[in-house]
Amino acid sequence: MPELRKTALNSVVRLLYRRVMDEPAHFADRPRNAGSGPGHAMNAPKIALLDAGRWSDYALLDTGNGKKLEKFGPYRFVRPEPQALWTPRLDERQWAQADGVFVSGDDEDAGKWRLRDGVEERWIMEYRGLRFWAHCTPFRHLGFFPEQAVQWDWIEDKIAGARSPVRVINLFGYTGVASLIAARAGADVTHLDSSKKALTYTRENQEAAGLEGKTIRFICDDAMKFMARAARRDQKYDAIIVDPPKFGRGAKGEVWKLFDDLPELLKLCREALSDKPLFVVLTTYAIRASSLAVRYALEHAMSDLGGHVEGGEMVTREADTQRLLSLAHFSRWSR
Ligand SMILES: C[S@@+](CC[C@H](N)C(=O)[O-])C[C@H]1O[C@@H](n2cnc3c(N)ncnc32)[C@H](O)[C@@H]1O
Repeated sequence: MPELRKTALNSVVRLLYRRVMDEPAHFADRPRNAGSGPGHAMNAPKIALLDAGRWSDYALLDTGNGKKLEKFGPYRFVRPEPQALWTPRLDERQWAQADGVFVSGDDEDAGKWRLRDGVEERWIMEYRGLRFWAHCTPFRHLGFFPEQAVQWDWIEDKIAGARSPVRVINLFGYTGVASLIAARAGADVTHLDSSKKALTYTRENQEAAGLEGKTIRFICDDAMKFMARAARRDQKYDAIIVDPPKFGRGAKGEVWKLFDDLPELLKLCREALSDKPLFVVLTTYAIRASSLAVRYALEHAMSDLGGHVEGGEMVTREADTQRLLSLAHFSRWSR
């Protein structure tokens, strides 16, 4: 082969190699994830595992026998974890030293905490400089979801990297850590939840974070109703965070059922996006569906926009064993 042609060919090969290795997952995952043996799905999307690995106040210390032992700030708690189908690494004495144990009731999620004397009613947690309250809820969690930190980082990066002001709405916003992250990054935030108590927690968290000067609009409403109204009024947002429960109730008792209502809500989210849309993040917990369903639902709703959709599972990494515990599904669209 003439020398010139060989050099040109080498450059093309080098360029292609660089694209595959350097491009974000949306380019790299397609060819690499294609099945290579019998039964492997061809051209399947990559199922990403996102690890919230930047915590110092939270750690998954051990798992096993259907339970998990975790550190939340100064305390250690034992909570049920049906996925822990193995034997714990630490011995029983270490588990017995926990400051609190959640005992499940008849309901799927509800139950009771058995707490040692001295465990405060609430205490401050910190994630990358953001301070907020934790407390033991009757629904087995601690007022926030540590695995969401991986989404907080992503949201913060996207907003900080935007070239113009960003309007964000956080639907089913709960105690509001994602709203605070977005506000801290400079976004104009609307925080929506149907529970007044959740809005109070968010206000308290805003104060704990020292972000009182940031714009957060608090809305107590049904997520679907509010977004339908937003569509009618042509109210637009550049970014949308959606963290719906499997089942919930709006501010006036409206019924939310994820499997019935999610497609319509995502359609309304698409309509509410501005003409410079930045992202949509969808996370789901405890549903009987693959992360592929969550991904395709969002991909379908955003299909006319182009951009990039990724999906998969949010995990926490167990100290020492490095086992990954899968806690939620996610899908996110971005430009
Ligand atoms: C705890 S978060 C969801 C967290 C996580 N995805 C889960 O399922 O455990 C659920 C929040 O959604 C709110 N919520 C439930 N139904 C709602 C509705 N129809 N409209 C707005 N908020 C709702 C609840 O008040 C709660 O604060």
